[in-house]
Amino acid sequence: MTIKTNITEMFGIKHPIVNAPMGPFRTTELAIAVAEAGGLGTISHTTVSMDGYEKNNLEALKKNLDYVVEHTDGIFGFNIITSRNIVDCDNLISGAAKHIMANPKLREQCLYALSSAGSSRRMPENKEFQKLRKATEIKHFHVSPALWLADKSVASGCDGLVITGFEGGGHQSYEKVGGMVLQQQVQQKYPDIPRIACGGYATGAGLAAALSLGAGAIAMGSRFIASKDSEFHENYKNVVPPAKAQDTIIRTGALGTIRYWRNKFALSKGLVKTKEEKIAEEKALTDHRSAITEDELAEELRKDAKAAFAAYQGDMENGGVLIGQSIGIVNKIESVSDIIDTIVKDAEKSLKTAIKYVQ
Ligand SMILES: Cc1cc2nc3c(=O)[nH]c(=O)nc-3n(C[C@H](O)[C@H](O)[C@H](O)COP(=O)(O)O)c2cc1C
Repeated sequence: MTIKTNITEMFGIKHPIVNAPMGPFRTTELAIAVAEAGGLGTISHTTVSMDGYEKNNLEALKKNLDYVVEHTDGIFGFNIITSRNIVDCDNLISGAAKHIMANPKLREQCLYALSSAGSSRRMPENKEFQKLRKATEIKHFHVSPALWLADKSVASGCDGLVITGFEGGGHQSYEKVGGMVLQQQVQQKYPDIPRIACGGYATGAGLAAALSLGAGAIAMGSRFIASKDSEFHENYKNVVPPAKAQDTIIRTGALGTIRYWRNKFALSKGLVKTKEEKIAEEKALTDHRSAITEDELAEELRKDAKAAFAAYQGDMENGGVLIGQSIGIVNKIESVSDIIDTIVKDAEKSLKTAIKYVQ
């Protein structure tokens, strides 16, 4: 038995499972493993090449696309963060679009363009991306962690939504709405828009729940960090099996609201401001462009990025370990293909059990 959904049909994939993007790190091996196992692989937005991989962000993205397409015949895509902080964002979108257009194998296999953490209009308004969208089957999805952001994504003409609840790892929205309510809100308002549920998914029961809530697939970050195939350091992976769901905390930083594993670094970060405080802060910055404030912001960004990379390279004390509450339901590090097989089989079992309740 296989699980066929609007998302598996849209992309021509075997399983309704996606790896969530986890920039600024490289997740090319992970994307390959997911695509090879019949899911939808995702290349992360590797903006900060602190490990010397590539200094130019567009070159890093092109290199990632080429690497993945050379190593799998499966289906995959890429994430571009469209926040105002990403100064070369438009260049990245047009550069990626042109690069995909020029390679027939990429045109066939790179079908998922995911924007996040910024405007959902940036990709569809880009001329090169428009050409790519016309010429290929590529679909544009936007990560929407609140209903009003889903509204904006739908208004931007997205082909689908990634709806991420507050349980998830890494960057979160100020609204702090849990996935259960958020999925139902989006289901009520946009029942016909293809949707990938994200944040807190790690098991077959989770996939079955997401499908029952009207989603066509799940995207997982933390579950795939703790896989044999991911590029994350062994120390990072090893945090997951013994961890409890309550071992993450929400803190603030230059990148906004972040869910971290609770360690020395995370505890040193400030508590999350309210959205109103953050807006007032940004307004003050725009109104009185103060060099000191901008320098401070740049310094904070640099420190956060440095801490994230320290974790990626194994420093579990001073590193910023981005991770989600689903670590509380993952007990071992397995290969991506075993993870996907187990999740699909368990989801089938859960769905078959649930259908017995229907008389
Ligand atoms: C290490 C890490 C890095 C992340 N980086 C990004 C990113 O660059 N872009 C993005 O849209 N989301 C990013 N996220 C969020 C994930 O895409 C996803 O929403 C989250 O992992 C889902 O929750 P889960 O960890 O419970 O599966 C990141 C998450 C983690 C754990």
